[in-house]
Amino acid sequence: MSNGKNRVWRLAKRPEGTASDNDLHLAEEAMPEPGEGEALIRTVYLSLDPTNRIWMSDMDQYMEPVKIGDPMRGIIAGQVVKSNTPKMKEGELVMGVGHWADYMLTDGRGLSVIGKPGQVPLAELFGVCSAVGPTAYFGLLHLCEPKPGETVVVTAAAGAVGSVVGQIAKMKGCRAVGIAGSDEKCQWIKDECGFDAAINYKTEDVGAMLDRYCPEGVDILFENVGGSIMDEVLARMNDFSRIALCGLISQYNATEPVPGPYNFKQILMHRIKVQGFITSDFAKDYPKAMAELTQWMGEGKLKFRLDIDKGLENALTSLNKLYDGSNQGKLMVEVSEVAAA
Ligand SMILES: NC(=O)c1ccc[n+]([C@@H]2O[C@H](COP(=O)([O-])OP(=O)(O)OC[C@H]3O[C@@H](n4cnc5c(N)ncnc54)[C@H](OP(=O)(O)O)[C@@H]3O)[C@@H](O)[C@H]2O)c1
Repeated sequence: MSNGKNRVWRLAKRPEGTASDNDLHLAEEAMPEPGEGEALIRTVYLSLDPTNRIWMSDMDQYMEPVKIGDPMRGIIAGQVVKSNTPKMKEGELVMGVGHWADYMLTDGRGLSVIGKPGQVPLAELFGVCSAVGPTAYFGLLHLCEPKPGETVVVTAAAGAVGSVVGQIAKMKGCRAVGIAGSDEKCQWIKDECGFDAAINYKTEDVGAMLDRYCPEGVDILFENVGGSIMDEVLARMNDFSRIALCGLISQYNATEPVPGPYNFKQILMHRIKVQGFITSDFAKDYPKAMAELTQWMGEGKLKFRLDIDKGLENALTSLNKLYDGSNQGKLMVEVSEVAAA
């Protein structure tokens, strides 16, 4: 926007079920002016993440929920337009926690400078390395410590996080079995990402297919979904197996209390280690993860798909693609273009 206005998505009320435009409103507001110690950031990409729906709710969660009337929180890649802080210079590219807005003010907290235009492939770096890649990396490597020959099952396996998990598992010499919601997604994770097997949970008997593809049981579950799919995997976990509990996307739009896992007893019977985690728990290890992830990307070892919609006004419609499975890879919205340095 260059007409002196700033569009901002504000949370009007807490959604029940799928978030709609009754819950979030796109308001046109005056352009903010940075004060002393502040910078004005223009959003280039807005990441759409399953957790956005959690932030809209007031359920018990790992961050403060977005307050009613506040700008919707989102992970952004942006460019510094004006700066009154030594932390960032005009023209630099930044990444981190921001708003669903054309512009925002920052004092630098929660944002990192990542370079100048032309120095980094912004969409790829933002899409794969801002949250998705580190989530896969820390959840699999730090929590589950995979060993060659082990069987790793990944749910939402063709998604942004899941597809990276399977590829890292393969690099570590494991067998990777993915569960996804379409034949096209299953084909992609096998042909492009190198998964050993894929199960379409919408058309196949997940339990029977797990028996076929994991004849020696499951050593690691990287869980993104929850519900009945997780129960089927739990029933096939080996002694001293591990679960990285990364997400429970099947529950984020639930309007009723969701039942617990029926196969919870397996955790006792098979002495399974289960750990939930949030990527930011591993902040101190980010540089190592980023270095390895960018190296794998540069060497062509890490395949990924970016699903980029255009226009801030489409953010909410776009977000809901995550919950019906119509996103094809890392979902984000292009809000503006990078200006030359
Ligand atoms: N712990 C952390 O720090 C952290 C960080 C990032 C992400 N996450 C979690 O990681 C998971 C994946 O996130 P992402 O950003 O990579 O999204 P994504 O996998 O690219 O997109 C979400 C996918 O979830 C699947 N899905 C949606 N509703 C489902 C349901 N009811 N049952 C089964 N599958 C369903 C859909 O794929 P299908 O077509 O296969 O159904 C959809 O494409 C989420 O649970 C998210 O909350 C956690």
